[in-house]
Amino acid sequence: MQMSELSELIADVREQVLFLQELGVDALDVRLPEAEGERVDSLQMVAEAVVFEKAPPPADIGLPKRPTETVKRGGSRIASLPSLRSRTPVQNNIMPKPTAAKPADEPVKVDAPPEPAGSADTIGSIRAEIGDCTRCKLSQLGRTQIVHTTGNFQADLMFIGEAPGADEDEQGSPFVGRAGKLLTDIIMAMGFQREQVAIGNINRCRPPANRKPEPDETAACRPFILREIAVIKPKVIVVLGATAAHNLLQVSTPISRLRGTFQDYFGVKVMPTFHPAYLLRDPHKKRDVWEDMKKVRDLLES
Ligand code: URA
Repeated sequence: MQMSELSELIADVREQVLFLQELGVDALDVRLPEAEGERVDSLQMVAEAVVFEKAPPPADIGLPKRPTETVKRGGSRIASLPSLRSRTPVQNNIMPKPTAAKPADEPVKVDAPPEPAGSADTIGSIRAEIGDCTRCKLSQLGRTQIVHTTGNFQADLMFIGEAPGADEDEQGSPFVGRAGKLLTDIIMAMGFQREQVAIGNINRCRPPANRKPEPDETAACRPFILREIAVIKPKVIVVLGATAAHNLLQVSTPISRLRGTFQDYFGVKVMPTFHPAYLLRDPHKKRDVWEDMKKVRDLLES
């Protein structure tokens, strides 16, 4: 292996470790080499640079695997682990059909099949139909703007949260506040860039004082994210927090029991996990989320 390739490898590892540490994977105790701009003089030095100083991580710590391709981000190289399907322009779809098999330990009880998406549905047509929405009272309760799903509408991976907060309401994009920053870190630790995945919410308008959306508000808004799921057709949806999980899957199982196990949502795999805002309040839960995200990453890689 060339020195330049080794330097690149170190840079990749270094960046992944930084993300993991930020996510709370503190069992990794490594000396982080400065790979860029620093000359690596010998193989010996490279080996030392990546050696674990204390106990090595447990075998199942699951450091992101060496990628087969790398992409540029902000001047440094990061892994682009699972491939994102490159699909031709968003096709018209119908809602995925229910599948018979459900995970044994957490059966999903969906109340009723979602409305089939109109055959002409596209992300644009759904947005146009939402328009300057007044279908629920959130439109009258101080929302600045409607916060639509963003990102890659051909992605294999989609994240769905509860409802916009103050930052999202101000900027018009989902997950752009503190919780959003943490979500971005999680996405990057999985080997993606934020722009490569789709990110949305069950409710598109900010509830006053960030209260939970009420049932009538969710009932008015939920059909649109279901139709977007039908258009995007992700392989995996990560649903963030109890409210979003309960509203998407129509179950009331506590998130602490629901998380970590793939659910089946009409043929789409759904991984419920803790909401990043909860992680900000209880950073110890970051490790659980990382375990869940490894399962998602592994499924996308398989
Ligand atoms: N919390 C959410 O559930 N969604 C956002 O967009 C921001 C914070």
